[in-house]
Amino acid sequence: MAKDWNPASWRSMPIEQVPDYPDPMALAETEKKLATYPPLVFAGEARKLTRALGEVAEGRGFLLQGGDCAESFAEHGADNIRDFFRAFLQMAVVLTFGASQPVVKVGRIAGQFAKPRSSNNETRDGKTLPSYRGDIINGIEFDEASRIPSPERQIEAYRQSAATLNLLRAFAQGGYANLENVHQWMLGFVGGSPEAERYRALADRISETMNFMRAIGINSENHPSLRETDFFTSHEALLLGYEEALTRVDSTSGDWYATSGHMIWIGDRTRQEENAHVEFCRGIKNPIGLKCGPSLEPDALLRLIDRLNPENKAGRLTLITRFGHEKVEAHLPKLIRAVEREGRKVVWSCDPMHGNTITLNHYKTRPFDRILSEVESFFAVHRAEGTHAGGIHIEMTGKDVTECTGGARPVLAEDLSDRYHTHCDPRLNANQALELAFLVAELLKHDHAAAPQQQQAARR
Ligand code: PEP
Ligand code: CO
Repeated sequence: MAKDWNPASWRSMPIEQVPDYPDPMALAETEKKLATYPPLVFAGEARKLTRALGEVAEGRGFLLQGGDCAESFAEHGADNIRDFFRAFLQMAVVLTFGASQPVVKVGRIAGQFAKPRSSNNETRDGKTLPSYRGDIINGIEFDEASRIPSPERQIEAYRQSAATLNLLRAFAQGGYANLENVHQWMLGFVGGSPEAERYRALADRISETMNFMRAIGINSENHPSLRETDFFTSHEALLLGYEEALTRVDSTSGDWYATSGHMIWIGDRTRQEENAHVEFCRGIKNPIGLKCGPSLEPDALLRLIDRLNPENKAGRLTLITRFGHEKVEAHLPKLIRAVEREGRKVVWSCDPMHGNTITLNHYKTRPFDRILSEVESFFAVHRAEGTHAGGIHIEMTGKDVTECTGGARPVLAEDLSDRYHTHCDPRLNANQALELAFLVAELLKHDHAAAPQQQQAARR
């Protein structure tokens, strides 16, 4: 077990991004209640994810992580979850085909409720109120009552996470993810787009392969991997009182696990090495993500790695880089070199969303070409450094929203107001997400084709 650590040891550390609960007694009562609730995920599942990510760290897999910037209580219908899952599965299939490698599927879902904010307050028309911090903390409506943090919301978030996870487990294990359904995952509104055509062509090839395999005796009845998939959940571990309440000892290993989700990550604003969020995460055994923005220097990264993964276990730590499309070359190589020099095992994943946010017509948006450009630079740098571009981390939805501009069926600046539904940052819609998956698949295919030659060159 981590030295001098317990699930509450973060409480004596400096901390950023703490909501101002007006009634600390009520907050403590809620946390006490949550601590008696059943875990949402099991330690064995978190270990399975660590193993899968360990393969990615060794260059034998690819991580697809994505979902809402912020889940909301308002958007909790089954359709919403299903559409997300369909879009996500489509991306995963495209990537698996491109990479000829396993794709580790991790949703930003079933717990992604708490948001770090750059400002504590928001001012509209001369009126100033506390910022919205995610549905688990306060309400998005711009009125005084909504913006007061309320502990009861944590119970609601737990309940919604449990229900979402329940449906996702059913989709992943209960037949929906069966590869024989590969054509049915197409979402209605995607039909007719250029991505739809490409997807259909790929689905045809998969069906053809499945028919061949069936003919030689391999089918989804006798091979569960064709009809089931492993789908994991993740969120930012921002609200530490909630996380602590759901942290439990695993009876088989005696280790502590966060049971609020399979993987949790530390945000770019809360990754100070001496602070509470790093302290909490170092003691739990789940796979951990660490957001790496432009202000992170190589030495500080190495110290964080020491703290979060002292045993240098592959799969324990995923570095999620998010620099902005023009800053990748200036920041990524020096981090990679430091990690390689010290022989640290990490998964490198690219978040092309958070460094590419701009304001257009009063909407926070992200131009699709900048998102693509950050991903391309990420791959190019890893290719040049001889390291594995291991994953992408994106904000997306299965809905036909107009939040990010651009794409093959472009969302224009004047379209943003049509279906701008996000509770926080702008997400890729299902079309844009699929288009991105095809681009990444091409990049993976390219790397895969180049890899044997590189190995030969290395041997010479
Ligand atoms: C996020 O992932 O929604 C987020 C706030 O990211 P970051 O910590 O990288 O800014
Ligand atoms: Co976000």
